[in-house]
Amino acid sequence: MKSDEFRRMWDEMQRDGYFTNHPHYTDFLGHTPSKEDLELDNAVIALNFETQNVSMPVPYSDSLERSIKRTESLWLYKMFDLPRTGTALDIGCGFGRSVSWMADNYDKVIGTDISKHVIAAATKNCEHLDNIAFYVNGPDSLPADILPASVDVAYIFTVLQHIPREYTQNILCSVERVLKPGGRVVFNLLSNVNEELNEGEKHTEWAIGYSEDQARNLLRDSGLREERLVYWSRPETAINWLWVSGIKQ
Ligand SMILES: C[S@@+](CC[C@H](N)C(=O)[O-])C[C@H]1O[C@@H](n2cnc3c(N)ncnc32)[C@H](O)[C@@H]1O
Repeated sequence: MKSDEFRRMWDEMQRDGYFTNHPHYTDFLGHTPSKEDLELDNAVIALNFETQNVSMPVPYSDSLERSIKRTESLWLYKMFDLPRTGTALDIGCGFGRSVSWMADNYDKVIGTDISKHVIAAATKNCEHLDNIAFYVNGPDSLPADILPASVDVAYIFTVLQHIPREYTQNILCSVERVLKPGGRVVFNLLSNVNEELNEGEKHTEWAIGYSEDQARNLLRDSGLREERLVYWSRPETAINWLWVSGIKQ
């Protein structure tokens, strides 16, 4: 798929209510978590994120996905030793979910997304926060407004399984340019599935997977040094999330 077409596809998906219709994001649209939801949150937070293989407490479900998102600001720092001040960048930020909590921790937060529709929604959702800037990014590039060596932490959560491999590589090369020396990038990849795939059906979420070697190559070919690889496994399937952190040297 050509890059113009790819951008148009995501713009159309966002225009047509990708987030409002998505079962993983209902918390951020007014759904109040139940007692069972909060118990699941406690089970997620209690996991040992220092191991190389974090085993999820229950089989995959929409509830688990929502719980992981609700508890993100806790497990992220248990899993990776990240700078906690300075500038954070959230690529594929969607409607501003992670950016909202990052604004409490960091001096400045930048959110970027391929879709102008979702960036408009994120800007509105975060209008009460004064340390955030949002930009539309290219399918495989970051906006020039993000200056070289200006970012302490770059975060990319549940985005890279949806985009062609060469875009992922180019985005990580752009991340390397905008990170300060010693700055970190953290991203997750689908693993042990679709490791040969480079596209999916139009107007659907793609599920492009990466082996451990492919993940390491992404870092190496971006000029980033590997810091940590962590698997999140699920009891019912061999498909994992592979979490990766890299350091700008
Ligand atoms: C599953 S959502 C995740 C949103 C957000 N990271 C979160 O966790 O709430 C994937 C997001 O990636 C965005 N996206 C898709 N391709 C992209 C690209 N090439 N560059 C930046 N964002 C992209 C979509 O518009 C969508 O907002």
